[in-house]
Amino acid sequence: MAVKTIEWRGDSVRMIDQRLLPRREVIRVYRDYVGVARAIRTMVIRGAPAIGVAAAMGVALAIRGSSGHRARVRFERAASLLKATRPTAVNLVWAVERMGRVLEASLALDPERLYRRMRAEALAICREDVAANRILGRNGAALLDSPASVLTHCNAGALATAGYGTALGVVRAARQAGKKIRVFADETRPFLQGSRLTAWELQKDRVPVTIVADSMAASLLRAGEVDCVIVGTDRTAANGDVANKIGTYPLAVMAQRHRVPFYVAAPLSSIDLACASGDEIPIECRSPQELTEFAGKQIAPAGVEVFNPAFDITPAELVTAIITERGIAYPPFDESLSKLKRST
Ligand code: MRU
Repeated sequence: MAVKTIEWRGDSVRMIDQRLLPRREVIRVYRDYVGVARAIRTMVIRGAPAIGVAAAMGVALAIRGSSGHRARVRFERAASLLKATRPTAVNLVWAVERMGRVLEASLALDPERLYRRMRAEALAICREDVAANRILGRNGAALLDSPASVLTHCNAGALATAGYGTALGVVRAARQAGKKIRVFADETRPFLQGSRLTAWELQKDRVPVTIVADSMAASLLRAGEVDCVIVGTDRTAANGDVANKIGTYPLAVMAQRHRVPFYVAAPLSSIDLACASGDEIPIECRSPQELTEFAGKQIAPAGVEVFNPAFDITPAELVTAIITERGIAYPPFDESLSKLKRST
């Protein structure tokens, strides 16, 4: 995809504003970590790997002009704000902690060299994410026949990462290998990442894509129109339980009912061995307005109670395989995931 999700330019971070897609392509520029944190919280940028990269860049901006103890204090302040923006995506914590380790090892540098070191690390996280997605994509592509119809949920594409995508990376790699792949994109209520973002980026790459309402997926599966489901993840626990966009769990239940493989595309940065199971994954609840309003207009009675968790947990028993850049993990996931994650 030609448009970049996130980019470092000069001393600023640039992001395409995903809230406005597909109608308008607006680039936002951030010069401090507070702005980057706001961009993550308000969904200018979203998708677990992409917000990890954004947080790393935010940390680099935060320590600019400082060294030693002052840099450490600034880091702590930025780290706690950035980590709290979206609690489910483990990539956020992972990226900030990686930046923290580099800082600790470089505290003796003068401010300018320390800033350059931190910026280089943030850029490495960005580059490595794209590289991991390309390899993950190739690994996953081997699972797809040709022709094949893939059903996906939310947006786990170039826009959700530093580039190429995870679930959509598998689609891209399969097409690059010459396979005929079409995609059904769940619209993904309430934020519409499927109909706004997945459809937009696939259309740009000329990948055949059909939007369906979330409630249509069961009928598509029943009709035999789907060869496999591929989704991304915000955090996958050690036992293979998968946290992903709300609506992923019902999709996995329906896929099992119709004997359709359910794949999760997960870079290692999204796998959290410290979480034993999905019960330990914090689930973000977002604002009621996402449900009571549509395109800025009130559609539900004023004052009505709302429950709006942004993610759900798909139990490992419903997952056919987890595709990573180090290979494909099959059940039992507590064994296969830790083996993949610990191998170098
Ligand atoms: O709320 P979002 O849009 O950040 O949710 C994104 C997802 O659920 C993605 O599937 C997940 O982050 C994986 S992206 C490669």
